[in-house]
Amino acid sequence: MDNTYNSQFPILNTEVYNKRLVYLDNAATTQKPRQVIDALINYYLTLNSNIHRGTHHLATLATERYEGVRRQVQQFINAHSHREVVFTRGTTESINLVASSFGSRLHQYDEVILSGMEHHSNIVPWQLACQRVGARIKVIPFSDEGVLDVRAYESLFTKRTRIVACNHVSNTLGTINPVKDIVDIAHRHGVPVLIDGAQAVAHMAVDVQQIGCDFYCFSGHKMYAPMGVGVLYGREELLSEMPPYQGGGEMIQDVTFERTTYNELPFKFEAGTPSVGDVLGLGAAIDFIASQGIDNIARHEDKLLTYCTQRLQEIPRLRIYGTAPRKAGVVSFLVGNSHSYDVGTLLDKVGIAVRTGHHCTQPIMDRYGIAGTVRASFACYTTTEDIDALVAGLKRILPLLDSGI
Ligand code: ALA
Repeated sequence: MDNTYNSQFPILNTEVYNKRLVYLDNAATTQKPRQVIDALINYYLTLNSNIHRGTHHLATLATERYEGVRRQVQQFINAHSHREVVFTRGTTESINLVASSFGSRLHQYDEVILSGMEHHSNIVPWQLACQRVGARIKVIPFSDEGVLDVRAYESLFTKRTRIVACNHVSNTLGTINPVKDIVDIAHRHGVPVLIDGAQAVAHMAVDVQQIGCDFYCFSGHKMYAPMGVGVLYGREELLSEMPPYQGGGEMIQDVTFERTTYNELPFKFEAGTPSVGDVLGLGAAIDFIASQGIDNIARHEDKLLTYCTQRLQEIPRLRIYGTAPRKAGVVSFLVGNSHSYDVGTLLDKVGIAVRTGHHCTQPIMDRYGIAGTVRASFACYTTTEDIDALVAGLKRILPLLDSGI
């Protein structure tokens, strides 16, 4: 891995404040390679038409390409069938779909288990579903290092447990959670599991059949694809039983004013015109990842994580939040008593893009008694020079932080 990526990712040549852009905000969104941008442009230049509806040439071609990407996604995550791949707008919509549709089975006093390190998008949809009927949420605690307490998790199950939802990788702590164990334990209790894979799919090989999960959600834009497209994988048996999430065109078989019958999977869950161009961009992103090799990307980011963690020790009074033995390329930290926003704003002035704040995980911040962190997160194009720039930038701004500016 080297910076030949700069020709593939035009935005990496950007200068900010006359400095080379050092983009370390990949957990928020990754940059897009040329082939993804080209796929979007080519769709609108040569193929734009609505899918599944027209018999004309362009509509037929666009439909073939769109359905081709569904099969690419099926292979990418090793789903059993393309009917188990539902296109959504992103992870948030995928989780809302399950919380709303599967969640319609919840009754008063039922229980939903979530991990304590979930993104708000894997908390709030469940709260909404629970509030509707008087069900309740139970939370898996985690250690100071950011490791889920699996024993405590096992003790949360009761006869009222209806579903478990947990992320594969924490967007804030970087922890890679033991999702297969989480699923196995839940299945021993006859409870299905949803995995939020938003921070995993671009960073490690994901095999939904090997994990054994019932639902797996992710976004295109965190895996080099355009914003506006995501995926819900759901086991066919469960998706078949679940009611539609939204009503509209395409998700129906027959409509009268008295009643509607629904389309087969996965179309039952795809109401309205989808983001066809974005889906084709997702296909190009999967091709891009395949061309790099997901295992190569994982190894590269793991080396960067080790390097970054070591080099950050050079910064006095810096504390890393999230030191689990199994981590992805996400490093959250604070320097002394400095506010994360001040550190992020000063780093920006030397060309370094990081995220600051609670990262949509306020319960994690409460767990540590802090308001937010500074977060550096990696992608395949991140280099050791980028980490060196982060460390140099921190050293440079330290006097300003110390003086309270
Ligand atoms: N969920 C994204 C992040 O962690 C936006 O930054």
